[in-house]
Amino acid sequence: MEQLTVKTKNCSYSVHIGKEVYDLFSTEYKELLHNADKVGIFADATAASYHLEKLEQALNAAEIAYELHTLPAGEESKSPLSFMSCHSFLLQHNFTRQSVLIAFGGGACGDLTGFVAATYMRGIPFIQCPTTILAHDSAVGGKTAINMPEGKNMVGSFHQPAGVLFQPDLFATLPKREIRSGMAELIKHALISDADWTESLLLNSDFPNFSADVLSSELLKGIQVKAEIVEQDEFEQGMRKFLNFGHTLGHAVEAYFGFGKVSHGECVMIGMAYSLLLSESYGDITPEYTERFIRFSDHAGYPMQAILEVEFSALLPFMKKDKKVSSGELVFVLLKSLGNPFTQKVTEEQCEHSYYELISRIKGEVQT
Ligand SMILES: NC(=O)c1ccc[n+]([C@@H]2O[C@H](COP(=O)([O-])OP(=O)(O)OC[C@H]3O[C@@H](n4cnc5c(N)ncnc54)[C@H](O)[C@@H]3O)[C@@H](O)[C@H]2O)c1
Ligand SMILES: [Zn+2]
Repeated sequence: MEQLTVKTKNCSYSVHIGKEVYDLFSTEYKELLHNADKVGIFADATAASYHLEKLEQALNAAEIAYELHTLPAGEESKSPLSFMSCHSFLLQHNFTRQSVLIAFGGGACGDLTGFVAATYMRGIPFIQCPTTILAHDSAVGGKTAINMPEGKNMVGSFHQPAGVLFQPDLFATLPKREIRSGMAELIKHALISDADWTESLLLNSDFPNFSADVLSSELLKGIQVKAEIVEQDEFEQGMRKFLNFGHTLGHAVEAYFGFGKVSHGECVMIGMAYSLLLSESYGDITPEYTERFIRFSDHAGYPMQAILEVEFSALLPFMKKDKKVSSGELVFVLLKSLGNPFTQKVTEEQCEHSYYELISRIKGEVQT
């Protein structure tokens, strides 16, 4: 079992990854859970249908009683209605300030449970038990949120978990699309931190279908990158923005298609190709590198061609909702070189020009 520690200004917690992580309910996390007057599991319906038994067995072995609240699968759980129903569940089951929550699911379940934990009786602790690859990103760092009809993640708070327990065997039931989605965030962590690591990922012909062991060690590297950034900038005043690499266009593409049609990571992969292309103007990234990245993405099954018929004007309103927009100007995370991110204001004209350049590069590199 591997472990690393995340230290923020006000707290410190561990991230564990390995087959035996749930044994920690009988050791490291026993006191926290035994001291709680109530323990609640908030479980994603699909993740629960495959794997909840593993968590329940571990809690039973540790003699921890719990109440189970099953959430709609995926993004639907992050609605205001679902958020309210979680609070009602806790109130109806007499949870108090001394209670603890456990999130069992992907990023959606973790974001929702975290925000419920942040707001129930002004804040109670929660433990993340992520069940998707993408959640190596979302479960660490303390950003919690729900969606509003007006936009994704628009209401939320910073609330760090008491611990994060990754059981990589649970990824075996993930659909291919979700594997690709999670692995895009891993590529992101590599691109913003380490040229050699990025190269090893791009050269690995197994990508994105790694064995559980390889995946564990790669995810640990990704978590390390995220943890180091969060430790230095918990509240996103500066360098935490680097974690948004590829997300300005990525989020716009995701919103344009309607959340869930093209997965988050698939959209981020398109967004990262765009950011690499923009980095040609502001950094040392070469056109050959961007083209190689597009070929790699296509080969790994990312739907780069999804945007070929999409006009820039259809995406711009979504890009303007980006939280990095400053005084109406679009701000992108770009790379000076591989592993060296920075933020850059880019005019709408340049954004538009580069977007159509991206489309023409995709047409050149991808077999449609
Ligand atoms: N808080 C953060 O810092 C942060 C960072 C990145 C993303 N996010 C959020 O994370 C969410 C995306 O996370 P995600 O990609 O994990 O999506 P998700 O939670 O929606 O899960 C994806 C799908 O996989 C299913 N699933 C979960 N575990 C499974 C398993 N083991 N086997 C089979 N199916 C399983 C779910 O039911 C869902 O349908 C978004 O809401 C995004 O906003 C948050
Ligand atoms: Zn993301």
